[in-house]
Amino acid sequence: MVSPERARSRLVEELRRGSRVRSPAVADAFATVPRHLFLPGSTIETAYSDEAIATKFAGGVAISSASQPSMMAIMLEQLGLCPGQRVLEIGAGTGYNAALMARIVGPSGSVTAIDIDPELIAQAEDNLRAAAVKGVELVVGDGALGHPDGAPFDRIILTVGSWDVRPEWVEQLVPGGRLVLPLAVRGSQLSVAFDLGGDGALRSDSVRSCAFIRLRGIGAGPATRAASTGDGLLIQVAEDSTVDPAAVAAALQEPGPVRATGVPIGPADLWDGLGLWLALADRSTLRVLASGEAAESPLARRLLRIGPDRGTVALVDGEPGEDCALLVLDPRGRPGTGRLHPAAVQVFGPAGGPAAARLGRMVRRWHALGRLNAADLVIAAVLPSGEPPAVPAGRTVIDKEFSRLLLGWARPTQPT
Ligand SMILES: C[S@@+](CC[C@H](N)C(=O)[O-])C[C@H]1O[C@@H](n2cnc3c(N)ncnc32)[C@H](O)[C@@H]1O
Repeated sequence: MVSPERARSRLVEELRRGSRVRSPAVADAFATVPRHLFLPGSTIETAYSDEAIATKFAGGVAISSASQPSMMAIMLEQLGLCPGQRVLEIGAGTGYNAALMARIVGPSGSVTAIDIDPELIAQAEDNLRAAAVKGVELVVGDGALGHPDGAPFDRIILTVGSWDVRPEWVEQLVPGGRLVLPLAVRGSQLSVAFDLGGDGALRSDSVRSCAFIRLRGIGAGPATRAASTGDGLLIQVAEDSTVDPAAVAAALQEPGPVRATGVPIGPADLWDGLGLWLALADRSTLRVLASGEAAESPLARRLLRIGPDRGTVALVDGEPGEDCALLVLDPRGRPGTGRLHPAAVQVFGPAGGPAAARLGRMVRRWHALGRLNAADLVIAAVLPSGEPPAVPAGRTVIDKEFSRLLLGWARPTQPT
C-alpha cells in the first residue's frame, strides 16, 4: 500500500503539471495538509486521487463532498491568500479546504468555516483535530448570511454554488477585499474572483469554469426551469429565458435533417466554451440532458454523445420553442485531435430550419472568435447599494434578486 506522504506528493506533482497549482504557498498547503485524515472512510489511493468524493447524501443526491483537488487549487489560486489574512469559508464540509487555507494564512491569520449542517461541522471538528490543524473556527449556520460576528474579512470563499451575489458577503468584506464564489450564469457555473471596488461594485479578477453542489437554505435560489420528454430527456432553460421547455420537449418528437458545421467540439465546450458563449449571446439557448436509464435510451445515445455526461446545447427560433436545433456530433465527421469531434446541427420541429441555421452560424462564429471560454470573461456585479452602472456596449446584463451582473469578453469579439 502506498504511504500517505508518497500519495500526497504525487497529487501535488499532478496539480503542478496541470498548472492547477501555480504558487509556492498553495503547493506547500497541498503538500503539508493530510487529506486522508479529512476522509476517514476512504483508502489512501482514493483520498489522494484528483476526484471529488461525496461524503453525505440525501435522497440519493450528494449534499456534501470533499471537492476535487484540481478545482480547490484553481480557487485557492484565484483567492490569492497571504499570511496574516482573515478568511471566511462558506461550505466547511470536511474541513480540508479550511485546513489548506489555515496553512497559507499562518498563525497571524484566521480561518472561519461555516456549514449549514451540524453533523458535518462535528465531523470537520474531528478531522481538524486528527490532523492537528490550528487556527480554524467552525460555525454552524446558513452561510447565505455570512458570519457578521467575525466580519470584516479580507477574503470570503464559497465552496458551494450560489445563484446570486448576496449583499451580506459584500458588507462583510474589507474595502478592496476579494470574494470567490461558484456563481450560476445561464445554466453554467463559474468560479468568479471578485474584487470590491471603492464604488461598492465587484469586478472580476479571474473567471473559471466549475461545478459545485448548490447552497441549501435561504440562498438556494429559484428552482431550475425544466421539462421532460417521454424518453426521459430533460430540457433545461435559464431562469430569465423566454423559452417554454414543454414546447421544446414536444418539438423533439419531430427530428429533421442533420447539417454539418465543420467546427470541432469537445465535452468541456458544452458548459464552458461554446455553451457559455451561446447562452450569453442568445437568450433562447437551452440545455438538453439525460441521466440514469434515460442516458442509455437510443435517442440519448444518438443525440447526446458530445460528453460523457450526456448533454448538449440547443437553440429555438421564435416563441415558445417549437422550432428547435440541437448541437450533435456529426455522424459522418472524422474524429479530430484529443476529445474533439466535428459538430453538426440536428433540426427539430415542423418549421424545419431557422433555429438550425442560426445555431450553425453561431457555432462557426464562436470558432472564428478563437473559441472563447470562461477564462476570457470579465464580470462586474453591482448591488443596490453600489452606484448604478452605465452598461458598456456589448455587455450581457443578467438581473438576479440582489445583484445585476454585467458580462463581457476580454478578447475581441470580432473575427480577425
Ligand atoms: C462541496 S462541499 C464543501 C467542501 C469543503 N470545502 C471541503 O473542503 O470539504 C459544500 C458544502 O456546502 C454546505 N452548504 C450548503 N448550503 C450551505 C449554506 N447555506 N451555508 C453553509 N454551508 C452550506 C454543504 O453542507 C456542504 O458541506
